[in-house]
Amino acid sequence: MSAQTLIDTARTLVAGDKGLLAMDESNPTCNKRFARLGIPQTEEARRAWRELIVTTPGLGQSISGAILYDETIRQQKKDGTLFVKVLTDAGIIPGIKVDTGAKAMAGHPGEKITEGLDGLRGRLAEYAQMGARFAKWRAVIVIGEGLPSRGCIEANAQTLARYAALCQEAGLVPVVEPEVLMDGGHTLEQCGEVTEEVLRTVFNQLYTQRVMLEGMILKPNMVLPGLTCPKQETVDEVADATVRCLLRVVPAAVPGIAFLSGGQSSELASARLNAMNVRFKSQLPWALAFSFARAIQQPALQIWQGEEAHVLAAQQALYHRARCNRAARRGEYNATMEKT
Ligand code: G3H
Repeated sequence: MSAQTLIDTARTLVAGDKGLLAMDESNPTCNKRFARLGIPQTEEARRAWRELIVTTPGLGQSISGAILYDETIRQQKKDGTLFVKVLTDAGIIPGIKVDTGAKAMAGHPGEKITEGLDGLRGRLAEYAQMGARFAKWRAVIVIGEGLPSRGCIEANAQTLARYAALCQEAGLVPVVEPEVLMDGGHTLEQCGEVTEEVLRTVFNQLYTQRVMLEGMILKPNMVLPGLTCPKQETVDEVADATVRCLLRVVPAAVPGIAFLSGGQSSELASARLNAMNVRFKSQLPWALAFSFARAIQQPALQIWQGEEAHVLAAQQALYHRARCNRAARRGEYNATMEKT
């Protein structure tokens, strides 16, 4: 696989005003979301939900790439068409989550290290052969009393970089996701400091592990106050803090930054991305895009409830969220869009 192919794929993923749809929840995470809505936690229900997503009319207008899970990349529509083909036919590039989850980190109470490097070279080759052109790996960083530790940041950063190098060797664009969680009472300033330290460490490791920055996408958190912090900054303040942090640490060679939503409401995630593009787009070296899971899927899932009769309405809700985020990439999202 040539370096140019990786560069072209990475650029395509963040081109224009499109972004990524993360539909790569592991079975336990997907089941947890189903359970809250009384949807059966079965393989067939997960398949039906993913069929609803990939067959949403017009999805490819706003979505450049969709991140699948190991179960999902092997699944098909009721009529036997593989989801990978459905996506590709809609002009959406298939991607795949390749980490095997964040597990308790030895010697680091309250912190996690993401696993999945063992056997990764073989799995990447299989996924590439199945049609995936990019991959995702998520590391989790917690802000708390004395946390995060340097040990946790360094171990996760090195693991992300080794994953990214293996992806590029296999011809897959790595989406590098170090997520500083929103949970807790920390301030926006604390989130900014931690995010900056984490990203600095990640880019040091990407450099050390010889990852080609032009052929990757960064998927970070926005810089936000913790969910239970009494002071919740405005949309513009969040946009300023996030872009200031990214400008300090993300090299200009990276083609795009695609944010995770992390549990923000769908509307806030769109509004904050929009504010960043309104205020800074013309001055930035990289594209500011989205790679949301909950902020795109959640309203549709709540409408679907596992019922065939709700499929069309759920697809309309999914299309709407994708369209709102597409507008946010152009800096043209506004609250009135939510009424249409
Ligand atoms: O790994 C997490 C997902 O790719 C993004 O999910 O937008 O719900 O945070 P989220």
